[in-house]
Amino acid sequence: MNKALNILVIGSGGREHAIVKKCIDSPLCDHVIAAPGNGGIAESTDCFPIAVDAIDELVALAQNESIDFVIVGPEVPLCLGIVDALKAVNIPAYGPTQEAAQLESSKSFCKDFFHRHNIPTAKYATFDEVPSALDYLDANSAPIVVKASGLAAGKGVIIAQTIEEAKSAVQSMLIDKSFGTSGTQIVIEEFLEGEEVSIHAIVSNGTFLCLSPSQDHKRIGENDTGLNTGGMGAYAPTSMMTDDLQEIINSTIIIPTIKGLESDGIPYNGTLYAGLMLTKDGPKILEYNVRFGDPETQVMLPLVEDDFIALLYASATNQTLPESIKLSNDKCMTVVIASQGYPENYPKGDLIKFPSELPEKTDIIHAGTLLKEGKIYSNGGRVLSITSQDETILKAREKIYSLCEAIDYKAKYYRNDIAHREIKRLNV
Ligand code: AMP
Ligand code: GLY
Repeated sequence: MNKALNILVIGSGGREHAIVKKCIDSPLCDHVIAAPGNGGIAESTDCFPIAVDAIDELVALAQNESIDFVIVGPEVPLCLGIVDALKAVNIPAYGPTQEAAQLESSKSFCKDFFHRHNIPTAKYATFDEVPSALDYLDANSAPIVVKASGLAAGKGVIIAQTIEEAKSAVQSMLIDKSFGTSGTQIVIEEFLEGEEVSIHAIVSNGTFLCLSPSQDHKRIGENDTGLNTGGMGAYAPTSMMTDDLQEIINSTIIIPTIKGLESDGIPYNGTLYAGLMLTKDGPKILEYNVRFGDPETQVMLPLVEDDFIALLYASATNQTLPESIKLSNDKCMTVVIASQGYPENYPKGDLIKFPSELPEKTDIIHAGTLLKEGKIYSNGGRVLSITSQDETILKAREKIYSLCEAIDYKAKYYRNDIAHREIKRLNV
């Protein structure tokens, strides 16, 4: 057994609050702190107001606080090389190196990687000049997808219904620089039809373990309408995933990725989060993220019955992972409560009133909140993530929505139809 660890969690979302809760429950954790954290995390432990892109300050914090293990939540510090920087001062950190994080920080790197290793994905081409991109569009048909190559917080993807619309997306990214330097290179790819599913694997030293397959709800409005967001709710496991399908995904996507990176001289440790489309020609990968999804983390972690933190520490120290992971038979669902106006402009500073009692196996996870003089205020676009698990998704859903109603603040907004596809599929 490893010694009890002094842990730093980096990030401020619902994902990080869920991770901090797992730390508190883990026998491997002696003490946990967060940077910058949020109101909910601050209710249970110390938060340090350091931004997630301030790599030097975060490394100094880890050293000053005698941290034994760092868990990196969001992609930005990973893509800036925080794992390498911590390794240089002998502090193990969960997540990939900067070089490996290119799987998320550069869509063109990622697509070329898929191509090189025969990993099934949408047909694509990469451009940094307008004329060749327009010629390519003329030779193809709509719908077609135009993507900024760099990090764009989930917003750099345009699903164009006409070639004209695709051409204006190309102009807006390459000429008007609508995504800044993230869009100086673009990827144009085939539109894939099917159901989306998120697969998260913890990877270490060539071995991996998959968490429960989940489905996110990216649009702000009910029936999947309106602007894209970071995610408005999720559930796991999805009944779309069978053992056979998981086997196909492992053998055609996850294993070739881990082996392909290794053979390219880029060993991968950390989270591989595969955004998949289940097409009639089989599962294809849309993209990789190199960290846990938010809000997917809030539904995957409650279902992990093994010591989750021990698995992350094993990855950070390059150990071989156990052969299997113990997952609950329950279903878990989360509904994000946001501030009206998100993902564009929204108010902050609303006092949030919480009910005094929670339904069974139900939890309030904080995202954009602030703790001030013992009270919780809204402080971001996505404010809370209401999570519940039960034998069925319907039972979990009932508890969640009664709690969503009972929580009160001025700009409260949430979708009432989270898990609608699953509920339709199950015909209940
Ligand atoms: P990405 O950031 O690449 O995952 O794209 C964000 C969202 O856009 C995905 O979750 C899908 O809903 C959609 N999307 C991206 N690429 C495609 C594609 N080739 N075909 C259909 N939908 C896509
Ligand atoms: N929920 C989508 C993401 O974390 O990228």
